[in-house]
Amino acid sequence: MKIPNPNTTKSKINPKSQIPNYEGVIKRYREYLPVTNKTPIITLKEGNTPLIYANYLSKMLGKNFAVYLKYEGLNPTGSFKDRGMTMAISKACEEGSSAVMCASTGNTSASAAAYAAKAGMKCIVLIPKGAIALGKLSQSLIHGAQVLAVDGNFDAALELVREITAKYPITLVNSLNPYRIEGQKTASFEICDTLGSAPGFQVMPVGNAGNITAYWKGYKEYKAKKKITRLPVMLGFQAEGAAPIVRGHPIKEPQTIATAIRIGNPASWLQAEAARDESGGLIDMVSDKQILAAYKLLASKEGIFVEPASAASVAGLLKLKKENYFRRVTKSPSHQVTRITCILTGHGLKDPDRAIKSIKEPRVIKPNLKAILREIGYA
Ligand code: F0G
Repeated sequence: MKIPNPNTTKSKINPKSQIPNYEGVIKRYREYLPVTNKTPIITLKEGNTPLIYANYLSKMLGKNFAVYLKYEGLNPTGSFKDRGMTMAISKACEEGSSAVMCASTGNTSASAAAYAAKAGMKCIVLIPKGAIALGKLSQSLIHGAQVLAVDGNFDAALELVREITAKYPITLVNSLNPYRIEGQKTASFEICDTLGSAPGFQVMPVGNAGNITAYWKGYKEYKAKKKITRLPVMLGFQAEGAAPIVRGHPIKEPQTIATAIRIGNPASWLQAEAARDESGGLIDMVSDKQILAAYKLLASKEGIFVEPASAASVAGLLKLKKENYFRRVTKSPSHQVTRITCILTGHGLKDPDRAIKSIKEPRVIKPNLKAILREIGYA
C-alpha cells in the first residue's frame, strides 16, 4: 500500500506547533485563562494532543477536503475532560476548597478523581447506575473518589449534585463550573496553532454541551486577539436516542450505546445553540448503527481507537458527506483545500467491552504450527 507523503500541502501542519518542556494547558495558554500568581497549578500535563491527518477519511470526502482528527483520548486520563479539570481543581485549591463533586457518565468523574488525588482533595462522584463504561469506573475508584451509583440517569444525578454543592462547602466540577469551560477552550487554540488558522468546519459529539460551548468560546477569543481571521462552522452530533437539542425538548429516558453522551437535558443547551447559530452550523443526530460503523472505521482504517461517543463526530461527518453538505456550503474557491477537524473526545480503552462486542471473539486454536499456518493462509 502506498503511504501518503505527510508533507503534501493537503496534510501539512505548522512545524512551530511543537513545544519543548511542555507543562500543561494552564502554563501554555496562561494569558487567556483566569489564573494569577496565587493560583496553585494542579496539572498532569494535559493537552498538547495530536492533530492527526486522516488519510482514509480525507479520501472519502474527496478533492479539496482534508480531515484532521484531534485525538483527545491521549490526555492523561484518556479524555478531553482533563483540560477543564486542571482549571477547575486549581481554582478550587486557590479558593481553599477541600472537596469536589460531580455527576458523570464516566469521563468527568475519572478526571475529577485523578486531579483531586493530585491536589489532595476529597472527590465525590454520582454516576448513573449500571450505565458507565468499565474503564471509567475503574479510574474513579482507583484514584480514591467516593463513588455512588444513583438509581437514575445522568440528568437526575446532576440535579442532585447542583443541589448539594449549592448548600454545602463542596465545589461543583461539572461543566457548569465556568473554569471547566475556560480550560477546555484551549483545545481550539491548539487546533489553530497547529493548522496556522481555524479549520473551515469542526465536527464534534454533544452530550451535556459543555465542550461545544468551550470550543466556540476559544475560537471567538482567538479571533478577537487576531490570532485567526475567520471562525469555523460548528457541527455538533447527538445520539439519536439522546438528542434533546435536535428534537427541541428534553428526553426523559435517553438511550444510546454511546454512554458518555446519554444525556436528556444538557446543562449548556442554550450555549450549544448559540455556537450552532453564530457559526452558521448545525446540531444533528446519528444512530447507534452509524456510531458503531464510524467507531470501527476509525480503528480499522485510521488506526485510532476511540470510545463510541467520540465516533459520533465521524459518524456525523459521514452523514453530512452523504448529504453533500460540505460541497454545498463551502464557499472557498475550488482550488483551495477546506480543512475539517473531528474531535475524538475519549480513548477506546475506556470501553473495551464495546470493542469486543462489536467484533467476533478470537478463534480458539490448538498450539500447533500447521493448524495456525493453515488458519492464516500460509499453508
Ligand atoms: N465525548 C465523551 C467521551 C464524553 O465523555 C462526553 C461527555 C462528551 C463527548 C460530550 O461532551 O458533555 O461537553 O457535550 N461526558 C460527560 C461526563 C457528560 O460525565 O463524562 P459534552
